[in-house]
Amino acid sequence: MIKSLLLGCTTLILLIVSGTSQAETESITIKMPPTSLAQWYKPANKRQVWLHAMFRLRREMQAVKEYARQKDAVGIKKWGQRLAESYRKIPEMVPEWQDEVRLDWADILETAALKGNFKQVLRAYDKLDASCNLCHQDFQALAATLYRSPDFSTQQVLFQGKTIHYDRFMEQLTQSINRIKIATEDQQPQIAGRALKQLKDQLQALKPSCNKCHRDEAPKERIFGVNVQKILKQLKKSIQNNQSKQTGRFLGEAAVAICARCHGVHRTFSNLKEFLTPTQF
Ligand code: HEC
Ligand code: HEC
Ligand code: HEC
Repeated sequence: MIKSLLLGCTTLILLIVSGTSQAETESITIKMPPTSLAQWYKPANKRQVWLHAMFRLRREMQAVKEYARQKDAVGIKKWGQRLAESYRKIPEMVPEWQDEVRLDWADILETAALKGNFKQVLRAYDKLDASCNLCHQDFQALAATLYRSPDFSTQQVLFQGKTIHYDRFMEQLTQSINRIKIATEDQQPQIAGRALKQLKDQLQALKPSCNKCHRDEAPKERIFGVNVQKILKQLKKSIQNNQSKQTGRFLGEAAVAICARCHGVHRTFSNLKEFLTPTQF
């Protein structure tokens, strides 16, 4: 597990040890999004309210820019007012972000829009746009990881009557894969065969855990579907025939198709989230 150091409640210092002969330690400071942001996301809220507020802002920015360029007085009046209203909601929703917004420029934009002063609207637009970018630089990826990436910290797998935490179950999966590899190299096909049977039972047990979040079949099919079943069949055959080279190849294919593919979507985010919220674990 990644080790992390939590200094204060809103600032996280990362220590990066470089791999040069003269080991150097570099640190970067990460500003954490204020905790009051959580109320605008699931599970505290029924919807991902913050994200939808952001989509609205982007739409209103686009409308304002387009109508200002077209010098459309009716359009700019409507969308300029809307944009200013939505923008003012940012610090209302997250008071800690008071200093991240330019309410002065939102007022200027609104007044200019009502007067049909297109040049002034576009000037204010640029100022607001810069404030969007500044906040995004610091917080966007972190907020998405913390509040919108799936949480595996509480996920469990039911295997042979026992409930096992995801982390622990993953270690057991790795052991099965490695047992096949070791036994094959040491010419013990029976042990390899038993380990393969164990791996298949484990995968069978892992599958229902996806249902907690996936109602559709496609993600499960991607990881456990026809393609993987075919590889597992070839693996079984090569183990039975004691063909160690083939076994190694099919084992590698299985690890990519089953493990690496799911890890690409789920493991890195899960680890990152854990890293950013170490006190929960
Ligand atoms: C005070 C901070 C802050 C300001 C100011 C801000 N945003 Fe955001 N914005 C965020 C955060 C945090 C996220 C990440 C939300 C997430 O992914 O769940 C985000 C995400 C977004 C997204 C989603 C991008 C995507 O496709 O996933 C859009 C669009 C967006 N912001 C538009 C805007 C616009 C337009 C402005 C300026 C008018 C703006 N934001 C100002 C904090 C801010
Ligand atoms: C804690 C919730 C959660 C669990 C448990 C979970 N997933 Fe996901 N998964 C998501 C979310 C959220 C996404 C991204 C959006 C989407 O596709 O629904 C995703 C995306 C994926 C994707 C890529 C997109 C797609 O739909 O093909 C695959 C593949 C996938 N998951 C496979 C699995 C498999 C296999 C399992 C079980 C072994 C699993 N997931 C368990 C939440 C979860
Ligand atoms: C949901 C799709 C999914 C599939 C399929 C999957 N994993 Fe994982 N794996 C994860 C997630 C998520 C984590 C991070 C779990 C956490 O941090 O709680 C993880 C973590 C791990 C870990 C690290 C465990 C630890 O102690 O932190 C190992 C090892 C691992 N997986 C091995 C495997 C192997 C081997 C396979 C294939 C036989 C596999 N996984 C298949 C999702 C998956």
